[in-house]
Order: sequence, then structure tokens, then C-alpha cells
Amino acid sequence: RRSYEYIEVSEPRPGVGQVTLNRPKALNALCSPLIGELNTALREFQASPTVAAVVLTGSERAFAAGADIKEMAPLTFSEAYSKSFIESWSDLTTALKKPLIAAVSGHALGGGCELALMADILYCTATANFGQPEIKLGTIPGAGGSQRLTRAVGKSKAMELILTGKSFTGEEAERWGVAARVFPTYEALLEGALKTAETIAGYSKVAVQAAKEVVNKSQDLALRDGVEYERRVFHALFGSQDQKIGMKAFAEKKKPEWSHQ
Ligand code: CAA
Repeated sequence: RRSYEYIEVSEPRPGVGQVTLNRPKALNALCSPLIGELNTALREFQASPTVAAVVLTGSERAFAAGADIKEMAPLTFSEAYSKSFIESWSDLTTALKKPLIAAVSGHALGGGCELALMADILYCTATANFGQPEIKLGTIPGAGGSQRLTRAVGKSKAMELILTGKSFTGEEAERWGVAARVFPTYEALLEGALKTAETIAGYSKVAVQAAKEVVNKSQDLALRDGVEYERRVFHALFGSQDQKIGMKAFAEKKKPEWSHQ
């Protein structure tokens, strides 16, 4: 396995890949080399025949405290613009077709909150500290926070959070629908995320990819178009072997043996 400076990569369970952000001295601030490593690791998981779902986590103290403020401080407009600063952060939403579960404990601020919002499923601890504090630095969210947070919590709450920079807890994240589940400890959180990833990894890879694709489409399309898109993909799955395998196994009261075709 490749060795990294700012992340750790493992396959802790059958079918499950894990990326742990590991830049403790800066509370996992997302410097460009860290994002580069994260993108490489996720591309390798996408290509891996053994990994079917991925968990992304940080430490108990910090998922990620944001973009690296010290790296950004001297940037000029033309540097940021010509290098498309932050654009590559979204690679994980386009390059990774396998489900990604973010397991968030501690600080998830600015770009850390935005990274967590890019995941397919977000789990957190009750005391996780989410927020978009960019306004306090004289800037605004730059990795999709104004769009994804607004879709998750609605306009008024998103405005309040982004205009005041005030944080919200994991418990609030769960109540507002940002997080799917909340856990009492970091250990319970990681176990919960790995278990869910393992459950997903037990299903047909073709069906799982299609399910992720259609749910994500709901974020981009109007309802009528989205429902039509879903139906097209649903029809397409009648061309997969696993639809036949799954439904035959049900009728025979057996456990399906997926071909992943
Ligand atoms: N960038 C660079 N370094 C950071 C960092 C960041 N986003 N967040 C924390 N660090 C560094 C600190 O500078 C400190 O380093 P030194 O020991 O060298 O001084 C180290 O991490 C530990 O941090 P603190 O001493 O501040 O720890 P704390 O427990 O007292 O506070 C915190 C924790 C509340 C998270 C505080 O560190 C903080 O407010 N961090 C910045 C959060 C922030 O504003 N994030 C948004 C960044 S902008 C952005 O993300 C833009 C975008 O939309 C993409």
C-alpha cells in the first residue's frame, strides 16, 4: 500500500475502505497536499475490486478544522482563479461512485463541514462541532457550503449559520437532517459507520452504484425529471444479473450470491 503524509488508509472490514485524516498538529486543516492524498486514496478505492464502500473520518478531536488558513492567507485572486483553488475538493463527489460515509467527531468547521456535507451519509457524535465560520475571516464558504448546507437545513437556518458563523452541535445536525445518525462516543461512531459500510458492501455493487446515482440526481433535478431519471435507471437494472439473482433468491427463500454484474 502507498504511504501518505496526511492521511491513513486501511481496509478494516470485508469490502470496506477507510480514510483517516491525520494531520493532528493542525486539527486536520485541509491543506492542498492533504486533499491531493485524499483524492488519490479515493481513486484507488474506486478502482479496487475488494472495496465496495468507504468511511472517511478524522480524529476524536477534529474531523477537519477547515481549509488551511495559513496556506490561503497570501493567495491572490488571480492565483486562486487560475489554479481553480478548491475545485479539486469536489473530486470525491464525481470520481467516487461507491458510497462514502463521513464519521464526524470534534471540529468540522468551514471546509471540514463542507467536506462532511459532500459524503453520501453523514454520521457524527452528539458533541461534534459543525459550522461555517468563514465570515469571521472576511470570506465565505468556498467548497459548496452555501449550497449543500442550504439544501440540508433550508434557507433561513443556512443564512443564520453562514452570516453569523456560529457553530452547531452533532445533536442539532441530526435534528435538522444534516446527519443521518448521532452517536455518544467516537468509538461508537466509527463502529456505526463501519457497520453501515459493511451492510452496503454486502449488496450488489451494480445496484448500490445505481442507488447512489439516483439519490444524488435528486439534488440536481426537478422532481418530474428526477422521477423519470430514476425510472430509466430502474428499468436498466432489469438488464443486470443481480436483479435476477436477488429476486430468484427471494422466491427460493435463499441468500443471494451476487455476481456484481
Ligand atoms: N488552518 C490552519 N491551521 C489551523 C486551522 C486551519 N483551518 N485550524 C486550526 N489550525 C491550527 C492552529 O493554528 C493551531 O496551530 P499552532 O499550534 O501551530 O498554533 C493548531 O491547529 C491547533 O489549533 P488551536 O490551538 O486553535 O486549537 P483550539 O482547540 O484552541 O481551537 C478551533 C480549535 C476552534 C477549531 C480553532 O483552531 C479554529 O477556530 N480554527 C479555524 C476554524 C476555521 O475558521 N475554519 C474555516 C477555515 S476557512 C475555510 O474553510 C474556507 C472554505 O470554505 C473552504
